[in-house]
Amino acid sequence: MASSDVARQLQDKNVRPLSLSGHVGFDSLPDQLVNKSTCQGFCFNILCIGETGIGKSTLMDTLFNTNFENFESSHFEPKVKLRAQTYDLQESNVRLKLTIVNTVGFGDQMNKQESYQHIVDYIDTQFESYLQEELKIKRSLHNYHDSRIHACLYFIAPSGHSLKSLDLVTMKKLDSKVNIIPVIAKADTISKSELHKFKIKIMSELVSNGVQIYQFPTDDETVAKINTAMNGHLPFAVVGSTEEVKIGNKMVKARQYPWGVVQVENENHCDFVKLREMLICVNMEDLREQTHTRHYELYRRCKLEEMGFKDTDPESKPVSLQQTYEAKRQEFLGELQKREEEMRQMFVQRVKEKEAELKEAERELQGKFEQLKRLRQEEKNKLDEKAKMLEDEMNAFSKRKAAAELLQAQSFSTNVNIKKDKDRKK
Ligand code: GTP
Ligand code: MG
Repeated sequence: MASSDVARQLQDKNVRPLSLSGHVGFDSLPDQLVNKSTCQGFCFNILCIGETGIGKSTLMDTLFNTNFENFESSHFEPKVKLRAQTYDLQESNVRLKLTIVNTVGFGDQMNKQESYQHIVDYIDTQFESYLQEELKIKRSLHNYHDSRIHACLYFIAPSGHSLKSLDLVTMKKLDSKVNIIPVIAKADTISKSELHKFKIKIMSELVSNGVQIYQFPTDDETVAKINTAMNGHLPFAVVGSTEEVKIGNKMVKARQYPWGVVQVENENHCDFVKLREMLICVNMEDLREQTHTRHYELYRRCKLEEMGFKDTDPESKPVSLQQTYEAKRQEFLGELQKREEEMRQMFVQRVKEKEAELKEAERELQGKFEQLKRLRQEEKNKLDEKAKMLEDEMNAFSKRKAAAELLQAQSFSTNVNIKKDKDRKK
């Protein structure tokens, strides 16, 4: 048993029922709640998914009995886009901020593989904005414009065969994120017997492919009967029209054909009234609640778990946000230290490598220097040898020169003496 259940049981045992001896006034709490909600106003967001021109805008206009701003989409959009428009509506004293989101270009691309992705991203973005608001220190959720999608009307083409693979894939991708209400569009273009078979086929395909569509709630006994019956009519076959046609002495919304008139609000003609009843009159609040308690909760849980937050530790003991934060911080610091150590090791390694490289370069330089020194020495030796040889040659030359000079001097003096002798003899 969960610890919160145990705590509640213990608490309940300590609670004693007492009867009041007079009127106190807290029986007005439900009225206070109604007044407060009425004052605040409501918000409801519908996503219409369907091929271009399938009748999305016409159905919205018919459902809310007004003319919303409508843009015709082209069939040549390169990718699916989502267009959201918000309106302020009022009925009696109840204000409703209604956002209608339309898929533009859905099913028009040659490659439809990514068609659903833009829708998934849009829904997640709205959840994320809400989560961010919730996580703020200074929250203002009471006046926050909640853009989360409360109902997704999935328009099925009245082909009379079966669902397209694009329909199945898209619904499968969205069923855990949004309340899907499938509708067969332009149901006036399909015969009664074909429509019956088509509905059965669609439901069996959804079941066999595990697509979870929104089920009208049956736990509240005031609406259990009608909701159970309506669950059996899904998918609703709808007809939309903003045209009014005179039937008897009344003007009614209808589509006029050469062979007859299709009345939008005639339950023998289509399920439009059932859809309006279920979507707006009976289950609007449940759709809002389911969006918050089921789809948003799932998104929030996954997102927080992704961020590393948990409610319990591996031994199923409760863990507070503070503890998780501390654990995350420690983990982060540990990781940081590890990274620092790794970087330090890497740095040391790089320094060592650089040192070895420098040493190698130094060794190479030293080798080159030694070689140059050797070459220089050899050159010097050769030059010295040459110088010595030249010196020797010079010495020999000087000696020879001196000898020659001596000889010259001797022969000169001999010649002088001979001349003197001759003169004397004369
Ligand atoms: P985009 O926004 O351009 O993708 O189109 P849409 O899906 O909003 O369709 P829209 O409501 O503009 O309708 C397209 C055409 O279908 C118009 O000519 C409508 O009159 C027609 N149409 C709308 N609803 C029905 C319907 O229930 N039955 C038939 N037969 N035609 C319809
Ligand atoms: Mg439209």
